[in-house]
Amino acid sequence: MHKILVSDPISEVGLTKLREAADIQIDVKTDLSQTELLEIIGDYQGLFVRSQTKVTAEVLAAAKQLKVIGRAGVGVDNIDVKAATERGIVVINAPDGNTISAAEHSFAMLIAMARWIPQAHQDLKQGEWNRKKYVGVELNRKVLGIVGMGRIGSEVAKRAKAFNMNVICYDPYLTSERAEQLGIALGTLEEVIKQADFITVHTPLTKETKYLIDTPQFFMMKKGVRIINCARGGIIREEALLDALDKGIVAGAALDVYEQEPPMESPLRQHPKVVTTPHLGASTEEAQLNVAIDVAEEVYHFLKNEPFRNA
Ligand code: NAD
Ligand code: MLT
Repeated sequence: MHKILVSDPISEVGLTKLREAADIQIDVKTDLSQTELLEIIGDYQGLFVRSQTKVTAEVLAAAKQLKVIGRAGVGVDNIDVKAATERGIVVINAPDGNTISAAEHSFAMLIAMARWIPQAHQDLKQGEWNRKKYVGVELNRKVLGIVGMGRIGSEVAKRAKAFNMNVICYDPYLTSERAEQLGIALGTLEEVIKQADFITVHTPLTKETKYLIDTPQFFMMKKGVRIINCARGGIIREEALLDALDKGIVAGAALDVYEQEPPMESPLRQHPKVVTTPHLGASTEEAQLNVAIDVAEEVYHFLKNEPFRNA
């Protein structure tokens, strides 16, 4: 019998195939504290997570029977993949099931920020008719700088072009042929940062991308630039962003992700020029179904000793 712990909310439909298998038992136990997770993880051969569960080296050390971790989403920064690999535990993610949802959310945040929609909405709900206070900016002919031109970055670029924006991107792993195919200009990080009216980041959070956008980068930006982070907290240093907002370098920011989640202590949360959502990029019915099906399917193959992908 293979026992699988589901420790973050994952679509039930996606789990059907695993639930139907006679030799697989699924236990859904969400909102576990780290101590509770440490106490029970030793009983399981499989673990399913989204981004809330922190699969640290300590958790992996306690997971004596664990063979596979399924990540219902893209980013594996909440899992110590190196420690898992050293213990022979396979990590499988769902790399493309939430691409469109994350790109649409990033673009929704960009527009909401450009036109002050959440702030104006809030004022009107409170009985204030503030037409002069909320003068926005158009997207037409503005430069959108995209840092990280992978699946989500490319979908954001397509949407930006439909709004007649000029797209420039920085991605050291993107070939000039691919950039040409996408119809976008490729530049260094400095070139992108200096030219952009809007900057959106779409890289994974790695040692290389941690604080990729920090104080020196903010000082290179155009005054009045607007920033979007719907990728991962920590790609942009929050302290530096706050300072750049207060100095008037940054006119607005739209954030879905934070260095600490939930970001209750962060001054950015209540900053009047910051539009915020609680890590909702992949929170659509379609994306949650896609990622759950994709990851459950691959974990099923793994447990049945059949070929699997995305490890
Ligand atoms: P992807 O792997 O397709 O694309 C990432 C891109 O970043 C690649 O093209 C890669 O070359 C580039 N990159 C890597 N290191 C870089 C660096 N140092 N500088 C510039 N570019 C670099 O991944 P994706 O599907 O586009 O997802 C990107 C990230 O978005 C995920 O890792 C995840 O953290 C985040 N995400 C967030 C949500 C959400 O709910 N907010 C949803 C999905 C994904
Ligand atoms: C991801 O990396 O896929 C996103 O952060 C979405 C999620 O965790 O659900």
